[in-house]
Amino acid sequence: METVVSGIRSTGKLHLGNYFGALRNFVKMQHQNNCYFFIADYHSLTTHPTPADLHGNVKQVLSEYLACGLDPEVSTLFLQSDVPEVTELYLLLNMNAYVGELERTTSFKDKVRLQPDNVNAGLLTYPVLMAVDIIIHKANKVPVGKDQEQNLEMTRKFAKRFNHMYNVDYFPEPTAYNFGEELVKIPGLDGSGKMGKSEGNGIYLSDSPEAIRKKVMRAVTDSGPVEKNQKLPEPISNLFKIMEVVSEPSTHAYFLEKYNQCEIRYGDMKKQLAEDIISFTSPFRERILSISADNAYLRKVVNRGAEQARASAAKTIKEVREIIGFKPF
Ligand code: TYM
Repeated sequence: METVVSGIRSTGKLHLGNYFGALRNFVKMQHQNNCYFFIADYHSLTTHPTPADLHGNVKQVLSEYLACGLDPEVSTLFLQSDVPEVTELYLLLNMNAYVGELERTTSFKDKVRLQPDNVNAGLLTYPVLMAVDIIIHKANKVPVGKDQEQNLEMTRKFAKRFNHMYNVDYFPEPTAYNFGEELVKIPGLDGSGKMGKSEGNGIYLSDSPEAIRKKVMRAVTDSGPVEKNQKLPEPISNLFKIMEVVSEPSTHAYFLEKYNQCEIRYGDMKKQLAEDIISFTSPFRERILSISADNAYLRKVVNRGAEQARASAAKTIKEVREIIGFKPF
C-alpha cells in the first residue's frame, strides 16, 4: 500500500482539467492506498482573495471533491490551513531552498508574467509549500496532471537535499502516480495551453447547461482544413482532445473522419461537444448543489480530516525537529 498525497488550489471551482488530471484518479485510487487529499487554501493566498471569496471557494471545492466521489470514510480529506504543522515544516524547508532555483521554475516565471504587480514571496516559495504538503505525510505517490511535473521534481529535490544534509534516509522521494497511462493535460477552449482557473478558458463541473453551450460555441477555431488528413492545428486538436474524454469514441471518430475528409462543420462539432459535456457534468452539478447546502455534513468531514492529517503531520514534525537538532535538554 502506498501513501498518497494530492491537493488542489482553492481558487475556484473544479474544471474538466482538474477532473481528468486529478479527481478521477483520486476516486479510483482511494480504496487501494493510504490517501490524503486536501484543499490548498494557504497556497491560494498568493492571489489575495477576499475573506468571503476564500471561504466560499474552499466550501465549493470541498463540495466538489465529495460530489466527485471522494469518500471521507476511506481517505483523509482535509483543508491545508487546518494543519498548522505544515507551516512549521515550510519554515524549516525554506532554509534549504535556494532563491535561484525557485526563480527558474516555469510556474514562477509564468506568474511573474501574468501578475507583474503581485510577485510576492509566497509565489516564489510555492514549490516549497507544495513539497511540504507531500513530504509531511511521507508520501511516495502523488496523482497529478502533467502540469505539475516540475513541482514534483522540486519536491524530490528538497526531500533528497534534506536527507543528504542531515545524513538520514528520512523522506521518500515521491513520484507521480500513474495509472499505466500518460499524464493527461486537458487543453483550454481558447486555443492554447492548458485548461486552468487562472486562464479563464475552462468548463467547470458546476457550470449550467446554458453556460456550457455558450462557452463551447465561442471556442476558438480556424477557417477549416485545406487538405485531406492534415495534422490537427492547436485550436482544433484541443476540441478533439476534450471530445475524446467526454464523448463516445464513435462520436470522436466520426468528427475526425469529417475533418480528415475536409467536410467538417465546426458548428456541428461544437453543438455535439456541448451536449456531451452537459451529459457528463450534469450529475456532478446536481450532487454539488445538494452537498454544498449541508453545512453540518461539511463541518463533520473537515473536522475528521483535520484530526487525521494532524496526527500524521505531528509525527513527522517531531522526528524532523530531532533530526535537525532541536532536542530537549
Ligand atoms: P491545481 O489546483 O492547478 O490543479 C489541481 C489538479 O488538477 C490537475 N490539473 C490538470 N490536469 C490536466 N489538465 C489540466 N488542464 C489541468 N489543470 C489542473 C493538476 O495537475 C492537479 O493535479 N500546486 C497544485 C496544488 C497543490 C498540490 C500540492 C498538488 C498544492 N500542494 C501537493 C499535489 C500535491 C495546483 O496548483 O494544482
